[in-house]
Amino acid sequence: MSTVAQGDRDRASRVTEDNARDRPIDDLIRADHASVKDLWSRYQAAGADIPERRRIANELIREVAVHSVAEELVVYPEIRVLMGDAVVDKLIGDQLEVKRAAYELDKMDVTDPEFTPRLHRIMADLETHMTEEESDELPMLRDRVARDRLVEIGKQFDGIKAMVPTRPHPDAPTQPGLEALVGMMTAPLDKMRDMAREFAERKVK
Ligand SMILES: [Fe+2]
Repeated sequence: MSTVAQGDRDRASRVTEDNARDRPIDDLIRADHASVKDLWSRYQAAGADIPERRRIANELIREVAVHSVAEELVVYPEIRVLMGDAVVDKLIGDQLEVKRAAYELDKMDVTDPEFTPRLHRIMADLETHMTEEESDELPMLRDRVARDRLVEIGKQFDGIKAMVPTRPHPDAPTQPGLEALVGMMTAPLDKMRDMAREFAERKVK
């Protein structure tokens, strides 16, 4: 291949990668929601394959923990400015219920007869929460915030996801400043505990 053609190809793949990274926040949130739903269907389809169910449940709990804290840190403050305290306080309250239930679930093994019914209830609550965000808050952000800013929030969201705790911590504060601080202290411990676990692959990007 000529150097020029190679150069074109490199440039083309760089552009594709940039496009993949430049995703507005509402798009990234919808992708996270879709991934959690995908993991739940895979969990149900795994049937008697206990190790696979365990890997999927580990990944699902991790995604829910990381997604909710990242949202509280970088997305809810934005929604608070545009839609007011009542809307955001309700979202945080709903997430707190899910965090509490996920915290209890995280201590159980998939072979516990209570595990699947509890996960089922968490998913039902999450479905309601995700539907509400997707029908109310995300379209509002899309309408009222400039696309560049949505992409910028998306980058912050992606960046913060690498730093927040990977296990549910229902007792952690939910105000952005404090939550970030507690998160930075807790995340390394969670990551160490995660080394003893196996995780299913995330398929929704
Ligand atoms: Fe969400």
